[in-house]
Amino acid sequence: PTIRLVDYQQPAFWIEKVNLKFALHPTATKVTSEITFHANADRGDGPHDLRLDGRDLKLIHASIDGRDLADDEVLCDAEGLSVPADLVPQEGFTWRCTVEINPEGNTALEGLYMSNGMYCTQCEAQGFRKITYYLDRPDVMARFNVKIEGEAPVLLSNGNKINHGSWQDPWPKPAYLFALVAGELEVVEDQFTTRSGRDVVLQIFVRKGDEDKCDYAMDALKRSMRWDEEHYGREYDLDLFMIVAVDDFNMGAMENKGLNIFNSRLVLATPETATDANYKAIEAVIAHEYFHNWTGNRITCRDWFQLCLKEGLTVFRDQKFSGDMRSHSVQRIEDVLTLRARQFPEDAGPLSHPVRPEEYIEINNFYTATVYEKGAEVIGMLKRLVGDETYRAACDLYFERHDGQACTIEDWIRVFEDVSGQDLTQFKLWYQQNGTPVVSVDEDFSQGTYRLTLRQDADASGHRIDKAAQVIPVMTGFLDTDGSEPLPEQCLILDAAEKTFVFEGLTAKPVVSLLRGFSAPVILDHTMDSDQRMFLFKHDSDTFNKWEAGRGIALDLLCDMARGQLVKGANFADALRTIALDGALDPNFRALMLTLPSEDAIAVHMGHLGAVPDPEAIHRARHDLKKTIAKQLASDLPELFAAMRVRGPYSPDADAAGRRALRLAALGLLSLLDDCAAAQDLYWGADNMTEQFAALSILISAGKGADAIDAFYKQWKDEGLVLDKWFAIQAGTTPPEAALDVVRALGEHGDFNWKNPNRFRSLIGGFATAPASFHRADGRGYEFVADWLIKLDALNPQTTARMCGVFGTWKRYDKKRQTLISTQLRRIQKTPTLSKDTGEIIGKLLAG
Ligand code: ARG
Ligand code: ZN
Repeated sequence: PTIRLVDYQQPAFWIEKVNLKFALHPTATKVTSEITFHANADRGDGPHDLRLDGRDLKLIHASIDGRDLADDEVLCDAEGLSVPADLVPQEGFTWRCTVEINPEGNTALEGLYMSNGMYCTQCEAQGFRKITYYLDRPDVMARFNVKIEGEAPVLLSNGNKINHGSWQDPWPKPAYLFALVAGELEVVEDQFTTRSGRDVVLQIFVRKGDEDKCDYAMDALKRSMRWDEEHYGREYDLDLFMIVAVDDFNMGAMENKGLNIFNSRLVLATPETATDANYKAIEAVIAHEYFHNWTGNRITCRDWFQLCLKEGLTVFRDQKFSGDMRSHSVQRIEDVLTLRARQFPEDAGPLSHPVRPEEYIEINNFYTATVYEKGAEVIGMLKRLVGDETYRAACDLYFERHDGQACTIEDWIRVFEDVSGQDLTQFKLWYQQNGTPVVSVDEDFSQGTYRLTLRQDADASGHRIDKAAQVIPVMTGFLDTDGSEPLPEQCLILDAAEKTFVFEGLTAKPVVSLLRGFSAPVILDHTMDSDQRMFLFKHDSDTFNKWEAGRGIALDLLCDMARGQLVKGANFADALRTIALDGALDPNFRALMLTLPSEDAIAVHMGHLGAVPDPEAIHRARHDLKKTIAKQLASDLPELFAAMRVRGPYSPDADAAGRRALRLAALGLLSLLDDCAAAQDLYWGADNMTEQFAALSILISAGKGADAIDAFYKQWKDEGLVLDKWFAIQAGTTPPEAALDVVRALGEHGDFNWKNPNRFRSLIGGFATAPASFHRADGRGYEFVADWLIKLDALNPQTTARMCGVFGTWKRYDKKRQTLISTQLRRIQKTPTLSKDTGEIIGKLLAG
């Protein structure tokens, strides 16, 4: 059934206190709960049945106020149980029950499950109902006491440890923040003193042998705790903070109160096993989950439609944290790359939804790029509109006013209105309207007056029909032909369908630099001739727009090439060369410049230009332009490669990582000229995973990887996270002609443990995100992926549904491919046991 925001109603009862007892057993764990309910005085109606959520539970016994309930007094169904109102003391009562669950049989990895012999939980969004009967909704916040009985030496839950296996959480919380972990785990310990003097013990729990891989995560945690104090005035509120690394996990990580549970790939790192990108992701996600302690846990969501209240804000916070730790301009480019790669296509296709959706079938399908990444962009715009100081004051008010509450987007908007005095009704449309606005531009200059007209298109992506004009902040700079800026940069507010901004007193028509810093998540349709673009590429003082100008030139070239036109990229390559060799620029920024737009980004751009993308032609075009650039830089590359070498022991810091990024970008180009000689050398001589893996990738994409692939496997076959990389890189970078055979064979490999989500995503996801391989014209790529999705859905609906998103852009391809894809989508849809998760996504894809 479809759940709707407009149907929200408070519960008939609130919960004060929960006592939980777990008698752990791999296939028959007994959970006994004692829950104190009281009437919700705000609900004038009644009397009410007691309705509790519950799934896959074996009810052994239940009582109310000490009176056992007979079998016919409790009505169980697939979604929970009901006790008729006449058996329920309406003012309040104590519910006790015992259920039996099967953690080992729980392949969905939701609720209580087992991973490599350890017990762990994932309760967001609705996993708690697979542990016991409960009011499994975020607006029901209660105090939890937990007692765990089991043989494991480590028995963990939320809050304060009373004694072995016994836990008390002083902070009321919704059930989705409950966690339990039990197993033979090792602990790495450290300490943090909050600014008001609370000593907090920090613990990271890992499997034996992984203790030496936690240093970076621990360091990132301490930096996150300090940062939240300094930037948001938020302190940690318990004496203990624990992180557990788990190998089988559907998502990245989970912010359970005081006991964060992480996918092990986002905790464990050594220089030999993790890349710079892995380190960066660990830092970001450790921060993200820690920041949830205030934006998510102390203040939570009233209902799941408000998910962006915690996720958009927390992503925004972790992005700013990463920028502070590294480089804001590089961070901004990377965040926009992610937004465009994941959120824009989502919003332009059949899975499009507003930042705050208004209906869903399965809430787990809404942990999306729109809720997270576009949600973060909305916060960034709000901050820009009210200013930094007002932003901070509004956040302070939010924490003060709503601490301990389950809130809505309306509550969030209201603190900004109260502090700024602004009416934010129109701004709120960002939460309510889906689709990516397109902003188009008209310029006029005469007699010293420059007129800039901005227009927003309400019907841009086909999924935006009859939409009202949104508030779009457009940061704008003006350049003279000598590169100087005759007017100060300003934020133009486009809050109508069309607006003209007038600037006087100019001696010449300026070159306008629009949407600096990507100040709004829109598509800017600004027709510039290539000279103008080249000018901004060379002279824009805004690093984002400098990068953007270069990218625009590259995209135009690549599209023309993919359409079979003969183009000369020499001008572009020459400008690129100047930037690549400019020692005054951050190496990381130079590396980003040298990286051509992805094949998917080229396909999107072709779509904007009204062309149907051909994935194979795009693949060739990208390779050809790379070669053009390599030739132009031929005499510089060996030197750049050598100069960017980082001496001394590996360090994951931003400077060293930036130099390695530029060094490896140079190597990628060089390998097109030297027959991969330098890449071979680097592969066999590398002492860190960043370089070893980059070299491996270059060799595989050149079809010269056979020996390295074998050696890599032998070297790393006992390191699961590194083996994931081995599967992923072959699936993702093997030349398109050979890719399907390679992934088919890897699907039979003894180490292809497909029930593990990381391993499944590595191989199947790696292949499906390599456009020229996945979209091969005979449709065999689609069939291969569909086979695996059908197989996984029977065990793990969440991960399957999420991966069905790889078909989300299917309408952009030619009719023949569309037919081949829809055949596979229908085949998936016909699976007799199809989960509601996957059913919802496939249904939308086919309807789209
Ligand atoms: N709240 C988590 C985070 O963003 C995500 C967990 C979502 N898990 C799920 N199964 N829906 O950090
Ligand atoms: Zn989150």
